[in-house]
Amino acid sequence: MDKGNHFEVKDRSLASQGMKNMELAELHMGALLKVKKRFEQEKPLKGVRIGLALHVTKETGILVRTLIAGGAEVAITGCNPLSTQDDVAAALAEEGVMVWAYKGETKEDYYRYINKVIEFKPHITIDDGCDLVSEIHKSHSHLIPEIICGCEETTTGIIRLKAMEKDNALKYPMIAVNDNMTKHLVDNFYGTGQSTVDGILRATNILFAGKNFVVCGYGSCGKGVAKRAKGLGANVIVTEVDNFRALQAAYDGFKVMKIENAAQIGDIFCTVTGNKNIIRLEHMQVMKNGAILCNSGHFDNEIEIPALQEAAQSKRRVREAMDEYLLNNKKIFILGEGRLINLAAAEGHPSEVMSTSFCGQALACEFGVQNKGRMENKVIQLPRELDDEIAGLQLEAMGLEIDQMTREQKDYLESWEEGT
Ligand SMILES: NC(=O)c1ccc[n+]([C@@H]2O[C@H](COP(=O)([O-])OP(=O)(O)OC[C@H]3O[C@@H](n4cnc5c(N)ncnc54)[C@H](O)[C@@H]3O)[C@@H](O)[C@H]2O)c1
Repeated sequence: MDKGNHFEVKDRSLASQGMKNMELAELHMGALLKVKKRFEQEKPLKGVRIGLALHVTKETGILVRTLIAGGAEVAITGCNPLSTQDDVAAALAEEGVMVWAYKGETKEDYYRYINKVIEFKPHITIDDGCDLVSEIHKSHSHLIPEIICGCEETTTGIIRLKAMEKDNALKYPMIAVNDNMTKHLVDNFYGTGQSTVDGILRATNILFAGKNFVVCGYGSCGKGVAKRAKGLGANVIVTEVDNFRALQAAYDGFKVMKIENAAQIGDIFCTVTGNKNIIRLEHMQVMKNGAILCNSGHFDNEIEIPALQEAAQSKRRVREAMDEYLLNNKKIFILGEGRLINLAAAEGHPSEVMSTSFCGQALACEFGVQNKGRMENKVIQLPRELDDEIAGLQLEAMGLEIDQMTREQKDYLESWEEGT
């Protein structure tokens, strides 16, 4: 481990590789670079300390640079013990950013690093999964009066924040960046769809065509995963607890059934619900020999791994991100220890995806500063116009143009007098 006053990273000598990877990321992050360029001129975040607990990847590196370009001071740690790209962490340390992260963090280090970010006394927190906000509320509430707002990146974080809001436990305003339409479309749907399948392929090198692929949860992420698995020729089965979503899956052409039935016929299982214990020991007991299980939801509690561990006759690591458990003399494989498979076994979302998500984060920070003291201690959404601005920036980055409404069309849509 390399340590300094402002960093703790795996290996500082990886910095030049991290810089190259960030250079590559930038090529596909045109929308965020446009925000960065404006920030360089306008400095909307001047004097603002921003503390981040995000996956430390090359794309996050570009967000960090964007916030700094806007005048902010930044401190960053990871939001998952397995998702840090060590070369990027080293590159950020090289650039003078306060960074505490390495891939494979112990639980102690994970929380020690979160506390390093808290010691930096952030005015704005950016979270992916709410651990930073939750730690501040639980153990450092004296810092809250100085905090302008927080920004949350993922569905699971929003669920936790809404629970805090309901209990009147939320003590500063939180912007639900996750709930931007652009974020759900590009990140949860297209991003998670592709990168989850990428993670499963890298971990196993299995052929999807002809396999029964079970997706648990048909939300934005689950829909993306199902679509991509189908594209590779898998027979996709969906399990759900929500009637509307289940109906959507059925009309999209997928088999819908209970997990207890899917468990018996599935070859590959992927949970992506944001809920816990979706695939339990009782389901694993009836699975086929060789069944492969993974998770792409935020936390590693969607598959009941502790119960499997207890019941298994043996466990061994057979590939880098693949553990074999012998259960009733059948082999059950767990990928990436049940953590987000797209980050544990692949590289997370492609840069272009994170460009839209992080436009949301950067603009949320700016919105927070502009509205300091005027936001309630609630989970709030960014105005629709900002979402539209992000979509526009991304279209521009893709070199696409769209029509503008004519005056006549605008009048038509606003009038109630014109009819048949
Ligand atoms: N892997 C990634 O990179 C990535 C990216 C974005 C979000 N996420 C995470 O993925 C998870 C899902 O996010 P989302 O945006 O799709 O959420 P969502 O709320 O749109 O969808 C979740 C779905 O799971 C269903 N569900 C809940 N309990 C279930 C159960 N017991 N069995 C079957 N289905 C059940 C819900 O009814 C819902 O339709 C969250 O944890 C989120 O944080 C991961």
